[in-house]
Amino acid sequence: MDEIDSDAVSGVYDELQDSHEAMWDQQGHRSLHYGYYDDEHDEPATAVENTTRILATLAGIESGDRVLNVGCGAGAESIWIAAQRGAEVVGIDVNEGLLEFAREHARKNGVAESVTFRTDDFHELTTVEDDSVDVVWGLEALCHARDLDAVLEQVARVLAPGGRLVVGDLFQHQRDLDDGERNRLGRVDDGFGVSVTRIDALESGLDAAGFTNVSIRDVTEAVRPSVRRRGITGLVNYPVQRLRGLFGSGSDRELALYRASYEVYKLVGSGALGYYIVTAER
Ligand SMILES: C[S@@+](CC[C@H](N)C(=O)[O-])C[C@H]1O[C@@H](n2cnc3c(N)ncnc32)[C@H](O)[C@@H]1O
Repeated sequence: MDEIDSDAVSGVYDELQDSHEAMWDQQGHRSLHYGYYDDEHDEPATAVENTTRILATLAGIESGDRVLNVGCGAGAESIWIAAQRGAEVVGIDVNEGLLEFAREHARKNGVAESVTFRTDDFHELTTVEDDSVDVVWGLEALCHARDLDAVLEQVARVLAPGGRLVVGDLFQHQRDLDDGERNRLGRVDDGFGVSVTRIDALESGLDAAGFTNVSIRDVTEAVRPSVRRRGITGLVNYPVQRLRGLFGSGSDRELALYRASYEVYKLVGSGALGYYIVTAER
């Protein structure tokens, strides 16, 4: 994707809705992020929930905390944070279809009183007041930012003094890519509607926005089984999707998604990309 426009990103999620629903059925969980594997969480559904648990622990989320989930998707982690940690959660997203899933999911889980989902763009956060949030949470969402520095400025604006940011996402490691890796990364960016930046771009953006106590953890090893699983799924589904395309029933977007999932697997394998959990304080 040449220029990341929020409407275009939302359009990507509309086009991928069927694939995402199929993935949710398979993993038993309405999440779009990778799973964090450890001894007690070694299959997809538990590993995916474990990612949420690890981020919540690192962000120190406690009962009564006001949490803003930027790019909340279908709401799974917002609902988990409200139910398991007793926090008040607002989830914002640019895709109305995902927000509808999230609202329905919150009602079914009995947490509709403590979780609100609404349309907003994390570059603007027009629905969020200054100094009004204890924790900003971004799980595999900031990769969609067209202007990461502008997003971090907004995050700093809405966080109360002493508030925390927690981010879990794919980033380029701190090294230059070779030509092959650059081509693969282009297919990842196009397929998912993202711009996977270098981890040091996040670090310098946090510094410029005035964050302190920045902690950057490379957790690639824990996420590798999940990246592999999606990569192999992409590899298997790609030719099937191409064949479907020949018979008029496949979509180019799904084809690009399967390709991108495989390219992430290859790029993590070559050491170009890694998965990071980053925390910081305002
Ligand atoms: C990979 S999904 C992750 C969703 C959720 N955090 C999860 O892990 O299941 C990224 C989400 O970010 C949302 N998003 C992308 N650009 C956004 C923007 N500019 N403002 C708010 N949300 C955005 C997408 O619509 C999508 O729901």
